[in-house]
Amino acid sequence: MGSLWIKRRLNLLIGGRTMANGNQCLYRKYQPYFPIGTCVDPKALQTHKDLIIQHYNSLTAENHMKFALIHPRHEYYDFSAADQIAAFANDYDKLVRGHTLVWHNQTPDWVFQDLTGQPIDKAALLKRMEEHIHTVVSRYRKHIYCWDVVNEAVEDKEDTNAVLRDSHWLRIIGPEFIEKAFEYAHAADANALLFYNDYNACTPHKRDKIYNLVKNLKDKGVPIHGIGLQGHWNIYWPSIDEIRAAIEKYASLEVELHITELDLSVFKFDDVRTDLKEPTNEMMELQAKRYEGIFKLFREYSDVLTSVTFWGAADDQTWLHDFPVKGRTNWPLLFDMNHHPKQAFNRVIDF
Ligand code: GLA
Repeated sequence: MGSLWIKRRLNLLIGGRTMANGNQCLYRKYQPYFPIGTCVDPKALQTHKDLIIQHYNSLTAENHMKFALIHPRHEYYDFSAADQIAAFANDYDKLVRGHTLVWHNQTPDWVFQDLTGQPIDKAALLKRMEEHIHTVVSRYRKHIYCWDVVNEAVEDKEDTNAVLRDSHWLRIIGPEFIEKAFEYAHAADANALLFYNDYNACTPHKRDKIYNLVKNLKDKGVPIHGIGLQGHWNIYWPSIDEIRAAIEKYASLEVELHITELDLSVFKFDDVRTDLKEPTNEMMELQAKRYEGIFKLFREYSDVLTSVTFWGAADDQTWLHDFPVKGRTNWPLLFDMNHHPKQAFNRVIDF
């Protein structure tokens, strides 16, 4: 009896398993390895406040630092939401990952046009890009320690050899839009860690394109410090071996790696069923096993893998309710709709 009591107390002190898992703190448990982040917006800072404060020590703006929201019109910036996120991070001592400066998506048309709607030329677009990056990065110099400078520039269709995705940035500026973005970001904040961020980053054919892109940038002396692997995965894919191979390949470039947008959909990408009101037990068990395996792998590589961010704090805050099937409920995260820990949370925290 006595020794059991002592054991329990000891376990409690070292954050052990006898304590109800929901009372444990995810980010503290992972402090020896890497920060644990979530994406946020001003609404989630209220609706998910307790969860965010207790379990996550890194924040990423889900949308409010993207071009379309922070710089919606020519010569007009709206910093209100981004400032709220920065202030919250400051108040509760959270890191902030900046996301994102140059992307083909969520970038308004005006960026690429003159006042009459005609396309602008390369010099004019570079000037706009520089001004945007300078303004946003300088404003958050004190709050943001790293930026996703360029998001999703690599072509991932398998039926083409194109390395870069077609975009206004590419068409008007040419491939050097990428290095220019990194140079401008570095000029605005020489201390910020600068990342290239993409999805399907573990799929071999795309992984190799991303590897070559970053290698070329590094060989040229472009200030790039990391690769962000988005981690929009599912409970069946990708395999642990594929993730491991990608981590090892990218790590050989001597850059840091961040898992930037982690969620494990309960559906395969081409599964469009809409009949489920609740996830099945099998799905939740498989998800828990997958999260356990993935986090075990992440811990193995914590010398190069220096941040893991979930794309949502709990299952009621996920873009997957609308993607790829509009209006279909998904359950991809560690906490359920009521913000209670799921089996997956228990497996990630019990090691
Ligand atoms: C991409 C972007 C994110 C977000 C997700 C979908 O991965 O990088 O900012 O828009 O798509 O939520």
